[in-house]
Amino acid sequence: MDESLLDFAREISTEAGKILSAGFRSKETVISYKSRTDLLTNVDKSSEEFLVGRISAAFPDHTIIAEEGSRKDAPGDYIWYIDPLDGTNNFAHGIPVFSISIGVYSRKTRNIVAGVVYNPYLNEMFTAVRGKGSCLNGERIRVSTLGYIGICLIATGFPYLSENMETNNSREFSRFLPRIQGIRRLGSAAIDLCYVACGRFDGYWEGGLKPWDMAAGSLVVEEAGGAVTRYHGEPFDPLHPEIVASNGLIHKQMIGILSL
Ligand code: IPD
Ligand code: CA
Ligand code: CA
Repeated sequence: MDESLLDFAREISTEAGKILSAGFRSKETVISYKSRTDLLTNVDKSSEEFLVGRISAAFPDHTIIAEEGSRKDAPGDYIWYIDPLDGTNNFAHGIPVFSISIGVYSRKTRNIVAGVVYNPYLNEMFTAVRGKGSCLNGERIRVSTLGYIGICLIATGFPYLSENMETNNSREFSRFLPRIQGIRRLGSAAIDLCYVACGRFDGYWEGGLKPWDMAAGSLVVEEAGGAVTRYHGEPFDPLHPEIVASNGLIHKQMIGILSL
């Protein structure tokens, strides 16, 4: 079942990717503001409408929760967490780092069972099924093998509500910076996680996230042999806003820095 869900998610992500590609750097794309710092485009909405329509038609007894407000509750085993455009800020600025992120959660097993993250600009499709490994465009991927955080490339992100210095990640950022080799802020949490999964990054942390940002990517990391927890090592929960993902070897070191 999980594999057929993945096939379906892969198919609709490819289609939604065409919607994103058509709107990218296009004069037709309209930008609006959810708040001063949180952008929205008509493309986020078209992508969501398309994805939600396809999933609810194919699986009427599944629950669907999507970022731009679509919500359909149903009694079946599965919950679809959808980010129709992760990296809206990049998208609106013409920066080609954005993705579609679709994670499927099972109420029965209480975890994510299938996930797809697709960057249509680079044509990179990251996929995972629980127990079956992770792939990039169909080829198996693995996390990196570095064991000392001092030589690691680490990614993070900052919440849109950035005015509060206690909660805007600046404290964590300044603790990591002197202790690692380099730091990146790509602007798509789903892509950050997949880059950990394929070894481009060695680790990633971020707070203030939503389930649609993390659901798919967390499974892609786990199935690529990495570790995914909350900031203090508690088991990952897509409904909890904090995530630390790593190659596993530096996980304790990352948690140590977050606990300083
Ligand atoms: C955002 C991106 C970003 C992260 C933000 C998210 P959006 O999602 O994933 O990397 O730092 O916290 O909200 O708004 O582009 O879908
Ligand atoms: Ca997002
Ligand atoms: Ca989004």
